[in-house]
Amino acid sequence: MKYDFDEIIDRRGTDSIKWDKKLLKNRFSDEECIPMWVADMDFIAAKPIRDAIVERAQHGIFGYGHKSDKFLEAAVNWQKRRNGWDIEKEWILFTPGIIPALSFIVETFCSRGDNVIIQSPVYYPFAKIINNNGCHVVNNPLIFKNGKYEMNFSELEELAQRSRTRLMILCSPHNPVGRVWTEDELKRLGEICIRNNVLVVTDEIHSDIIYKLSRHIPFGKISEEFKMNSIICTSPSKTFNLAGLQLSNIIIPNIRIRQQLNNKLRTIDIDPNSFASVAQIAAYNQGEEWLEQLLVYLQNNLDFIDKFVKERLQRVRLIKPEATYLAWLDFSDYGLTDNELRELMQKKAKVAMDDGYIFGSGGEKHQRINFACPRSILEKALESIEKSLKGIK
Ligand SMILES: Cc1ncc(COP(=O)(O)O)c(C=O)c1O
Repeated sequence: MKYDFDEIIDRRGTDSIKWDKKLLKNRFSDEECIPMWVADMDFIAAKPIRDAIVERAQHGIFGYGHKSDKFLEAAVNWQKRRNGWDIEKEWILFTPGIIPALSFIVETFCSRGDNVIIQSPVYYPFAKIINNNGCHVVNNPLIFKNGKYEMNFSELEELAQRSRTRLMILCSPHNPVGRVWTEDELKRLGEICIRNNVLVVTDEIHSDIIYKLSRHIPFGKISEEFKMNSIICTSPSKTFNLAGLQLSNIIIPNIRIRQQLNNKLRTIDIDPNSFASVAQIAAYNQGEEWLEQLLVYLQNNLDFIDKFVKERLQRVRLIKPEATYLAWLDFSDYGLTDNELRELMQKKAKVAMDDGYIFGSGGEKHQRINFACPRSILEKALESIEKSLKGIK
């Protein structure tokens, strides 16, 4: 079946946080701006997923569910097929999203006052979750070198050595800078954490949206030692545009770590809802045809941005992502403050992107644009950005 990703589907009136007029007005002061911010896609989901949800809806009884063997096997087989990683269904815990998972993880494995390492600029809820649990964010900022973001391993070692450093949350692939970490980088990071008794939590939510030459490596696949010192957070939600169904699969091969987290989860009794269950099964078992077409479309959108920036936004630097449908744009050449850049994008360009500074240090003077939308919308947004920048010295 051929999917039409050019089709514009009106999302207003569906309680979408990305498109709701009132929310856009509150957050971006303009209800008519083009929403290119929060990371969901403006594409209709794969037909097998829609069919499975309709069938489930028609059954009409929505009592308590549980994570069935079919649900778990779908996730197991997905890891095997896409990443060549053999996992067991017993390793998987269910949470209604990765943000809740990270929050439960920090709560379970840290005490108040402990340190948790992150690498800014990074997905901003990480810092919020750590702070909300009474812990300290210990930042190991990424370094931008020769047009590419890298990790600062010597600083990471120092931070890991601090007596109250318990956890590291790694975004892999990285949002917003779009890096797919290499095996060598992951090994260096993992070894530092093992040497210093720091548990590694990898957020691999973007790991199915990978471009051309890059290859995602699940952290737990690298070695037996890494497998035993990690929690790998995965979900079909970014891949198949199912964020509103709230589901994620938290893979924990180490039984001791798994039981600790499971004890916490049991206190609030969470299981996949009726639609999340069937959606995951359909997505992982029958969604690959759609995903392969999506990846081609996203790659073409990315090439479109690259060309547009090179030809018409020459003072903006695109940091081309190796993964994710989020592009990181550097506006620092304009010499604007973060507030001025924000005002310009929101009020003049009328394009709602995420301000770079919310991702922490290193994010200043950047904007993150979500390009998982029909090309005509992307083109309109880039043209508006171009117009808004005309005349700035
Ligand atoms: C890196 C990363 N982790 C987690 C999430 C959100 O996950 P969930 O909706 O499963 O809570 C996002 C959403 O943008 C993300 O980019």
